[in-house]
Amino acid sequence: MSNWRHKPQSEKELLQLMAPVKAVVKWVKARRGFVIGVGILKGGTGKSTSVLYLALYFSVALGLKVAVVDTDDNSQSIARWVATHKALGNKVPFELFVHPTKGAGAISLKKRLKPLKSDFDVVIVDLGGGDKETFIDLCQEGRLLLMPSAPSGWETDRIQATLQTAARAAVLNAEGLDVYNFFVKCDFNSTLPEEEREAMAVDLSEEDEDFVPPPFLHPYFDISKAPHHIRSWNVMPKRGDLEEWGLLVRHAMKGIIEEDEAA
Ligand SMILES: Nc1ncnc2c1ncn2[C@@H]1O[C@H](COP(=O)(O)OP(=O)(O)O)[C@@H](O)[C@H]1O
Ligand SMILES: [Mg+2]
Repeated sequence: MSNWRHKPQSEKELLQLMAPVKAVVKWVKARRGFVIGVGILKGGTGKSTSVLYLALYFSVALGLKVAVVDTDDNSQSIARWVATHKALGNKVPFELFVHPTKGAGAISLKKRLKPLKSDFDVVIVDLGGGDKETFIDLCQEGRLLLMPSAPSGWETDRIQATLQTAARAAVLNAEGLDVYNFFVKCDFNSTLPEEEREAMAVDLSEEDEDFVPPPFLHPYFDISKAPHHIRSWNVMPKRGDLEEWGLLVRHAMKGIIEEDEAA
């Protein structure tokens, strides 16, 4: 289901773009507390759905202990998804932590993550589209920040602003933060992803010295709009549905794992 228009020429070439599954599991187990943020300062782009599939991939496919932190005060999609599936009698393979960003009892994301980093292999944070402080905390504490959106200007409009915020905040990240853009909800029968990648790489505001070229993953790993994504609100995705997410994770983690091995 990945983007056949950009399929590597050979199996060998494809494998070179990804960390082996074994290396991913070994690296995550050795370090623990691998924090992944999913966020764009904008609603509706596919963040929560991406969080769900990533959480299912790490827990179901890789057998790792996964925490999901829902910081989206407005919709709390992941928290509501968990409640829905528990009511349906489905086993939810990750642990949920609701993180209110405002009101009584609100703590910083930094504080929230501290115990989770030692208790879980992987911590995936749904940053929602709103709270800037929470987003900045993630950029300082996380190892990977993913920005999924559909290949449409309507959805990518805030990505440049988000990239600039992330770049400023990540300066204070002791470990370094890898940031990647990729597209979800793709119909690979059109060239929309190609068109949008090109559009996003152009700096429209000449006077803006802070332009950050969008750090795209390889286009082969864009995520389809296969109907199971839409049904997943009340239908538990199957193992096979996680496959394209597995390829994306292995691709995004290749550089991180190699960097650590070289250090
Ligand atoms: N890969 C996908 N394929 C098809 N539809 C998707 C996909 N990802 C998200 N969507 C749809 O996009 C809409 C917004 O998704 P959601 O994950 O709630 O976004 P966000 O958390 O960014 O607000 C939902 O209707 C969802 O079903
Ligand atoms: Mg959401």
